[in-house]
Amino acid sequence: MGKLDGRVALVTGAASGNGRGMAVRFAEDGANVVIADLDDAGMEETARLVKQQEREPFVQRCDVTRKGDVDALIAATVARFGRLDVAVANAGVVEADTDCLTITEEQWDRTINVNLKGVFLTLQAAANQMIAQGEGGRLIAISSIMGEWGGAGSPAYCASKGGVKQLVKSFALAVGHHGITCNAIGPGFITTQMTARIKELPEVEAFLTDKTPVGYIGDPRDVAAVASFLAGDDARFVNGTTIFPDGGITAGSYSNMMRLAAEAR
Ligand SMILES: NC(=O)c1ccc[n+]([C@@H]2O[C@H](COP(=O)([O-])OP(=O)(O)OC[C@H]3O[C@@H](n4cnc5c(N)ncnc54)[C@H](O)[C@@H]3O)[C@@H](O)[C@H]2O)c1
Repeated sequence: MGKLDGRVALVTGAASGNGRGMAVRFAEDGANVVIADLDDAGMEETARLVKQQEREPFVQRCDVTRKGDVDALIAATVARFGRLDVAVANAGVVEADTDCLTITEEQWDRTINVNLKGVFLTLQAAANQMIAQGEGGRLIAISSIMGEWGGAGSPAYCASKGGVKQLVKSFALAVGHHGITCNAIGPGFITTQMTARIKELPEVEAFLTDKTPVGYIGDPRDVAAVASFLAGDDARFVNGTTIFPDGGITAGSYSNMMRLAAEAR
């Protein structure tokens, strides 16, 4: 018996990486899974993996930056499964090689629209559905360690991820008395297509591995494990916070660098 048996879990950006990892984990936990993304082939592959767990996948194309798409996604979920219990606002993009002085308005808008507005639209629509059901629920949004740090090469990404950390606090206050919790997950470096370039640059991979206290880069299963906890009954008193599956990198990367520097002497 899975801890999410009989529940319905929706994941945006579920065609790959962390979103796929969470969709499959929720299926392993017993949930029927709604897979939303813009990548049709990727969604079909995630659906295949969900079916392997003998759970029902429901696939719907959705651009999370469009309120009409997000509302249609929630309506289609309820039409298919009759309810919604867990919603993960995971869809995200990163703008490559930008900085504060040169990032264009278009680059800024694209990142903020997907990573912050898209998260807001998903949480809002899901929260209203859960309130209408009257049986509580779980809202989860994906932030990042880059919501803790600045990033010279990705100002919009860092701003969006910091915004997500704050946004979940507002939702936590707004929906807690309905038995709904809202939390964020702030992953460290995780091997997905978003970070594929790390694998192509061995010196960067070695640097990040060294900086991460546990000594390795994470896997989507590390993010999915936290999502599974937050989605389940054990997390009923966890609300308005961000959990960082990051191998300890935000615990003090500067002091860790000092250790590495000392070892190098
Ligand atoms: N990989 C990491 O190291 C890492 C670290 C911290 C946070 N994150 C976050 O994890 C989340 C998932 O990223 P990932 O690493 O799995 O990358 P990914 O590129 O594999 O997945 C992102 C998914 O979002 C989808 N997407 C993009 N724009 C969309 C839109 N407008 N509507 C619907 N779907 C859209 C993409 O098609 C893709 O399937 C993102 O929010 C990302 O910022 C990743």
